[in-house]
Amino acid sequence: MSNDYTNKVIDYFRNPHNMGKMENPNGIGKVGNTVCGDVMWIYIKVKDEVITDCSFETFGCVAAIATSSALTDLVKGKSIEEALKVTNKDVANELGGLPSMKMHCSLLAEQGLKAAVDDYRKKSSDGKS
Ligand code: FES
Repeated sequence: MSNDYTNKVIDYFRNPHNMGKMENPNGIGKVGNTVCGDVMWIYIKVKDEVITDCSFETFGCVAAIATSSALTDLVKGKSIEEALKVTNKDVANELGGLPSMKMHCSLLAEQGLKAAVDDYRKKSSDGKS
């Protein structure tokens, strides 16, 4: 894999899908990379255990923004169970690959979704969702 970003990464970075804070989400996942300081929020809306909407806010590098955006596209419409099977490698593949030194950035998206689902489950069990 070269050290260049694919056109798809650049496109997702320049024209991110599903970017922005969500009103009244059912789950919010906040994750960060302590090494670079990048931070990501993943928001989900859930109905009948299906992720009906997903958005993100990312303060980070090109790869972090592109992967969070691609993740939202990949998990929308999936059941929570299916969405949790989406790995950072799936996200990177969706983007046509990432430079190997940037693969760690894609972990944030996977971890952010898991954190959002954990938050949703916690709120559901608290009877607040
Ligand atoms: Fe921080 Fe990419 S350099 S997530």
